Amino acid sequence: MESKSIYILAIESSCDDTSAAVLMNDKVLSNVVATQAIHKEYGGVVPELASRAHQQNIVPVVAQALAKANIDKKQLSAIAFTRGPGLMGSLLVGTSFAKSLALGLQIPLIEVNHMKAHILAHFIDDETMKAPSFPFLALTISGGHTQIVQVNDFFDMKIIGQTLDDAVGEAFDKSAKILGLPYPGGPLIDKYAATGNPLRFEFPIPKVKDLDFSFSGLKTSILYFIQKQTKEDADFVKNNIEDICASIQYTIITILMRKLKKAVKLTGIKEIAIGGGVSANSGIRKILIEAQAKYGWKTYIPKFEYCTDNAAMIGIVGYYKYKNEAFVKQDITAKARYLIS
Ligand code: KG4
Ligand code: ZN
Repeated sequence: MESKSIYILAIESSCDDTSAAVLMNDKVLSNVVATQAIHKEYGGVVPELASRAHQQNIVPVVAQALAKANIDKKQLSAIAFTRGPGLMGSLLVGTSFAKSLALGLQIPLIEVNHMKAHILAHFIDDETMKAPSFPFLALTISGGHTQIVQVNDFFDMKIIGQTLDDAVGEAFDKSAKILGLPYPGGPLIDKYAATGNPLRFEFPIPKVKDLDFSFSGLKTSILYFIQKQTKEDADFVKNNIEDICASIQYTIITILMRKLKKAVKLTGIKEIAIGGGVSANSGIRKILIEAQAKYGWKTYIPKFEYCTDNAAMIGIVGYYKYKNEAFVKQDITAKARYLIS
């Protein structure tokens, strides 16, 4: 007997992207992302402006996601939304909208942890992606988080390492800011690094215990280095941007790879999946592909559009939770700090 298709509308509003997606089972029918350009002028996300932009965007973004998927809202099986972690004012917009719509349509409501969604994005049925096998290690690297997670099953995850200060995305963005590049600087460092010499400048690798990370020292050493160099040559950054970016990116990747190797050694797990905005970085993608032949790992890299914040990844968690009937009631609230478990 053929089972009935499940249609999930997913909503993501944890930071500065308003996104809505429609999934039919584990397939993405639409995934609309409205990125808020306003923050560029301020060199970082301004929480209050983000909430306001979410309020403006949410209705048209959801309408567009439904239209692109060619699905009427009456066909929806459930609404999934990002409960946290993230900026409270931003989360409240998506959470309230999802609750109201589910209430109006009289359909179940599903809460989703954003970091879990970055990991489970690998399970979206897409011809360009293969899902990892359990147990696997997930390296989640974004603007707000840096974690190594042991994933035993869809809903059995354990953080085995994390940053003690800045997230890796912040390390990219703050370094870029020092170089005078606009926010978010990660993709720009990536772009300049492509033609630079990664060994030209050396930055220190922090000594941090176990599987934890630290990135704040790197930012400080880059700041001092640039201040010193520009005193001698005012055009230092302009004339060496490719080599500076390549060296910064190389240092960050070295930090990440050392901890990943340690995690593989400690757990014996060689299935490695990455997730989060920074997994869009071409240097990280390349080194993880090379790690297959070099270390005998099996590495999984999500499609570009499922790396940075998007609602499709919220929808795939929604789908698995729907199958478990893991629904929440209307008294659910957003959670700015929300650890995965
Ligand atoms: O997951 P995400 O979209 O939002 C958060 O949940 O934080 O991650 C955003 C982060 C930003 O710090 C951005 O600079 C970084 O991902 N990022 C990159 C690249 N693309 C996005 N960092 C390095 N290289 C990239 N290509
Ligand atoms: Zn994210």
